[in-house]
Amino acid sequence: MSLAYPIVDHEYDVIVVGAGGAGLRATFGMAEAGLKTACVTKVFPTRSHTVAAQGGISAALGNISEDNWRWHFYDTIKGSDWLGDQDAIEYMCKNAMDAIVELEHYGVPFSRTPEGKIYQRPFGGMTTQYGEGPPAVRTCCAADRTGHAVLHTLYGQALRHHAEFFIEYFAIDLLMDEAGKCCGVLAWNLDDGTLHRFNAQMVVLATGGYGRAYFSCTSAHTCTGDGGGMALRAGLPLQDMEFVQFHPTGVYGAGCLITEGVRGEGGFLRNSEGERFMERYAPTAKDLASRDVVSRSMTMEIREGRGVGPEKDHIYLHLDHLSPEIIHERLPGIAETAKIFAGVDVTKEPIPVLPTVHYNMGGIPTNYHGEVVTLAGNDPDAIVPGLMAIGEAACVSVHGANRLGSNSLLDLVVFGRAAAHRAKEILTPGAAIKRAPQAATEQALARFDACRHAKGSMRTSEIRRNMQRTMQNHAAVFRTQESLADGCGKIAEVWASYAHLNVTDRSMVWNSDLVEALELENLLGQAMVTMFSAENRKESRGAHAHEDFSDRHDDEWLRHTVAWIDGNGQVMIDYRPVHLYTLTDDVAVVPPKKRVY
Ligand code: FUM
Repeated sequence: MSLAYPIVDHEYDVIVVGAGGAGLRATFGMAEAGLKTACVTKVFPTRSHTVAAQGGISAALGNISEDNWRWHFYDTIKGSDWLGDQDAIEYMCKNAMDAIVELEHYGVPFSRTPEGKIYQRPFGGMTTQYGEGPPAVRTCCAADRTGHAVLHTLYGQALRHHAEFFIEYFAIDLLMDEAGKCCGVLAWNLDDGTLHRFNAQMVVLATGGYGRAYFSCTSAHTCTGDGGGMALRAGLPLQDMEFVQFHPTGVYGAGCLITEGVRGEGGFLRNSEGERFMERYAPTAKDLASRDVVSRSMTMEIREGRGVGPEKDHIYLHLDHLSPEIIHERLPGIAETAKIFAGVDVTKEPIPVLPTVHYNMGGIPTNYHGEVVTLAGNDPDAIVPGLMAIGEAACVSVHGANRLGSNSLLDLVVFGRAAAHRAKEILTPGAAIKRAPQAATEQALARFDACRHAKGSMRTSEIRRNMQRTMQNHAAVFRTQESLADGCGKIAEVWASYAHLNVTDRSMVWNSDLVEALELENLLGQAMVTMFSAENRKESRGAHAHEDFSDRHDDEWLRHTVAWIDGNGQVMIDYRPVHLYTLTDDVAVVPPKKRVY
């Protein structure tokens, strides 16, 4: 078969897909290393979802009070409920301070202390003295617009290093050879309708999370996990997909993020009885317990009839006791968000909030260099040649079963940089590029063409709504065996209904009908492996709160889930061991223990 789509060929040492924090950091790191690098992105770089990150980026700088990266290492492992890989966590926490100094030198306009140091605020789950001391003051910020400041600065650096950009190009599929090496990616230029084959020594997936698989999330509409979708279609597994983070404070109804920085600056939650209920659930950390704990506590309050509002179905977040000067200086963005999306003046009234899907701990499995790994024979760390993944698209895994707030921006820049370092070690600038067999392109084109000409009975929006409702109802903050088993049946039906897709616009130029249909296919694969992985894990750990198995079971479940899906919607599940070892003797392994805040 040969479909009549002319293809424009390109050759690069490295192609980065995605221009958020991780993608941009990798892009200019690769360019700086002398590798011919281009970044392919479906949105203009400074519109990537990193722009929405609010509260900050963690690093044990100790600018406000004593700190140590080893305490950060400990907190991250405990936060992950011991599912995080300790070698990768060591790498991230140890490199955090340099990463912040580097960002500062690149020009990130961090907020400042009166002495001119980078300002830091407390964040959930961040402690001192290996959990025994007072809360750590570890999260560096630019008011409550840290992601905006970081993203714009990184884009400036990418331009400075003459990285090339292919903007508003939608990545369709990875191009793999018969031996499983990634040789490039096929992409669609939305602006003029042309198709482009990017042949490269290395493809780096930095495509972000898939929050839009859910009905209510803090993620942008563009967060459709396109890299994860492409990886699944390339026959690769995704890891730990059952762990979906609910941020405690999404605006009730609208879902927009209200940063944890509010609680870091002294804000707190109250129920309908005016009680600061977190004191009961987390007597030490209270409102600054880790996100999974706070989201569960809020859900319990609502379930037990102590929610606020006419339907008693949400919770109040107070910052009306803080001085207007503090709000103006440190939290100006959320004051605006609360006004627009909840009609609330935060200096006078509480914000109505509800746990809202915010982050995917799971993703494309990688080692701490950013190289994609898969299970091959007896090797749980077998590298997929020619392919890297970084940022939320990846599962390194530094966040395990629950990510600590402000560890995400850190993950982006540390592992974006690590990927560039690795590429410099293993690639030769200008080396001959092996192209994928033509069949790989034909297969990707056939899928694209079938979607473009789909003549079924269901609109993309209808299938997407069914998926989002199913995920929201069946893979929620609390899960039961019954809800998950039902959820598997329902999401499989939604997946199958994609065969009845109807796309009405057949054009090639800015066809958003087709873009949304392709994005939906990416989301559906990930929704499937999320639900089936959740149904499979018979324990509670981090964000996976299973009411029929309410304890953590390390003997059986201290292992990563890896899940594949085939073209018939069959999900296959296997496991990888958690790395319970460190990279160096600079820090000791933290053995599993009970997790209390
Ligand atoms: O609450 C926040 O500002 C979000 C931060 C994060 O997800 O790391």
